[in-house]
Amino acid sequence: MAQFLALLGDLPISTENEELVIRMFMACGLWGPGGWPNTAVHCAKVAQVAMELCKLAELPISAVENVVFAGLVHDARKSFEKAQIAQLTSGGMSKDDAYTAAACTQATWLIEFGIPDHIVGLSGLSGHTSLGGFYPELPDSLPAMAFHVADDLCGGQYGDELVMLHDRMAQLRERYDWLSNTREELGGRSWIDVQAEVADQIMDAFATQTVFQTGEALNRWLVRYFN
Ligand SMILES: [Fe+2]
Repeated sequence: MAQFLALLGDLPISTENEELVIRMFMACGLWGPGGWPNTAVHCAKVAQVAMELCKLAELPISAVENVVFAGLVHDARKSFEKAQIAQLTSGGMSKDDAYTAAACTQATWLIEFGIPDHIVGLSGLSGHTSLGGFYPELPDSLPAMAFHVADDLCGGQYGDELVMLHDRMAQLRERYDWLSNTREELGGRSWIDVQAEVADQIMDAFATQTVFQTGEALNRWLVRYFN
């Protein structure tokens, strides 16, 4: 967890919230022996990237603090749930029963843990399950967009290395077949096609707020800056 603490030390978060995050990681089993340090580092990295995008767009410090807090907590419970499901299925339980037994949505867990509602809302805006909030129209909220695309950008092997969006989408297509094949909900388009389009649109939107000519140029700069 040394890497996580080093990243955490550079982020604008109050001592009280920092302690809350650490307590939550401990409760999820991410912390300590046999924990999931990669997930904790990924969370800190998403927080850092979302923060950088908000700073580049000169958003107020309150927006920066919100995306940082949301980034730090966004994948904690999901990983815990996955571990529980893996344990239950390896013990012979069917996948469906294991999902039911482990079920507790990320939002429920975070609220029970005392994370404020607006942070819980923001923290749910990552990945394909949040695309309804970004498609067919981008929301009128740069912090929401920064948070969403930051998770797409942190797609290296351990989730803490920045990547070019087109590489990330290729990686997702390869890893999750159904993301490329499920089309009914999106008028004939696949989840991954929509996710790729949304991510590009967000980067273009941020490029117009900054000195970068295109979203791709901004993406390339972020990769160089963070890796
Ligand atoms: Fe994530």
